[in-house]
Amino acid sequence: MSDASSGHSRRKFINTLTQGVLATSIAPDILMAAGNHPDLQLLKRPDQYGANDQVQIALIGAGGMGNADADTCITVPGVKIIAVCDLYDGRLEAAKKKFGNDIFITKEFKEILSRKDIDAVIVATPDHWHKDISIEAMNSGKAVYCEKPMVHDITEGSAVIEAQNKNKSIFQVGSQGMSSLGNEKAKQLYESGAIGQLNYAEGFWARNSPGGAWQYDIPADASTKTVDWKKFLKNYPDMAFDPKRFFRWRCYKDYGTGVSGDLFVHLFSSLHYIVSSTGPEKIVATGGLRYWKDGREVPDILLGMFDYPLTDKHPAFNLSLRVNFVDGTAENTYLRLVGNEGSMIVEWDKVTLTKNKSYPASANDPSVAKDKPDPFSYDRKKMLDPDAIVFKAEQGYKGAHFDHHYNWIRAVRGGKPVVEDALFGYRAAAPALLCNDSYFHERSMRWDPVKLEVVNKK
Ligand SMILES: NC(=O)c1ccc[n+]([C@@H]2O[C@H](COP(=O)([O-])OP(=O)(O)OC[C@H]3O[C@@H](n4cnc5c(N)ncnc54)[C@H](O)[C@@H]3O)[C@@H](O)[C@H]2O)c1
Repeated sequence: MSDASSGHSRRKFINTLTQGVLATSIAPDILMAAGNHPDLQLLKRPDQYGANDQVQIALIGAGGMGNADADTCITVPGVKIIAVCDLYDGRLEAAKKKFGNDIFITKEFKEILSRKDIDAVIVATPDHWHKDISIEAMNSGKAVYCEKPMVHDITEGSAVIEAQNKNKSIFQVGSQGMSSLGNEKAKQLYESGAIGQLNYAEGFWARNSPGGAWQYDIPADASTKTVDWKKFLKNYPDMAFDPKRFFRWRCYKDYGTGVSGDLFVHLFSSLHYIVSSTGPEKIVATGGLRYWKDGREVPDILLGMFDYPLTDKHPAFNLSLRVNFVDGTAENTYLRLVGNEGSMIVEWDKVTLTKNKSYPASANDPSVAKDKPDPFSYDRKKMLDPDAIVFKAEQGYKGAHFDHHYNWIRAVRGGKPVVEDALFGYRAAAPALLCNDSYFHERSMRWDPVKLEVVNKK
């Protein structure tokens, strides 16, 4: 879009136009594709968009996840990547090859934010840059998709929430599982009482490959000629260029948030969404650096325990989360919720509900509800209820990542608001960040998830 309107008014125009069209036409072929995901009915066919009816996106941080986000986002009809910001030349060159020679590229994110033709930005930088770029983007009238964890330090969350509220921004954190069919089904089952009274939950994340343990390749041309090293460092201690710190930033406390900020945060997002929780009030973590002794500052095994208080949405329960980056057997991830009547394992495209054996057989089983025993009958065995019921996404399901980007773009166009906004995102990030505080300071942490305050600062 090349006119002179601001990001705000451009979005307003898109919203008005979209709402008008939605009221009059819903393309039947999209309805078919929507399957059992009714919100997808809001989509217009790509060919129904005019030249201006396009959400124009910039990607800030064009590494592994930034590219995955951009690739997914442009599969939502009417979305175009028009600019890319990164601190490494190689990634800017790759972006031109992928998104077209005409895209705007820069190493300075402020040059992205000052452009009037950009409606929304994806922030997929290392964690230590999330807060500042997101806030500046919202203050510049942009909608923001900020990768998880929303912030790098427990002290940073409130400022992001304030910026979102002050600017009335569309801000979504990138824990894509949140928007999945699996999470939606689990929430529905949980709310219908399928597992009875929740008392315990657990999550596990195992990895067994070097890439999975953050040993990413370092490009041969990495140097201060190709990398804006000073910018990367932000306000953290100045030092000579270290390609490991730049390309394997997750291993260092100044830029990353350890395994809990990388992985626990997904499990918190899903759990909080399913049971409508604001978060735990007590956090204890232990673990160790057992294998990847490559100079990293954070553990490769982390065990976290969390006490969730009674609220009007859920009973008090305990959560146990584990990450093992040294699992020589298989990669594995799960989130399991346990109640007195059953349990469920939640995946993004599948939910497995298991009922306790002692749970009464269903009321519509005719063998259960006989008034008087038949004196001529023998001890005939019954048909049992299934041990486990598996709910699977329909074939062709585009997946959690598409759903999450779709939800964000729909909100940008004036549709249903996002669920994983700054408040939700902070509440999911906080216990993950406090795990690190607990691990490094060797003490339990107390958190008030309603007031958003660390209760025992010392
Ligand atoms: N949602 C998910 O499943 C998921 C998966 C992986 C990563 N992530 C998140 O995505 C983010 C990026 O992770 P990654 O694996 O893509 O890292 P990466 O190292 O592959 O990419 C980060 C990119 O950001 C660039 N960068 C650094 N500082 C910048 C700045 N100030 N301005 C512009 N660009 C900057 C770097 O040059 C690099 O290309 C992290 O916050 C991570 O937690 C999310």
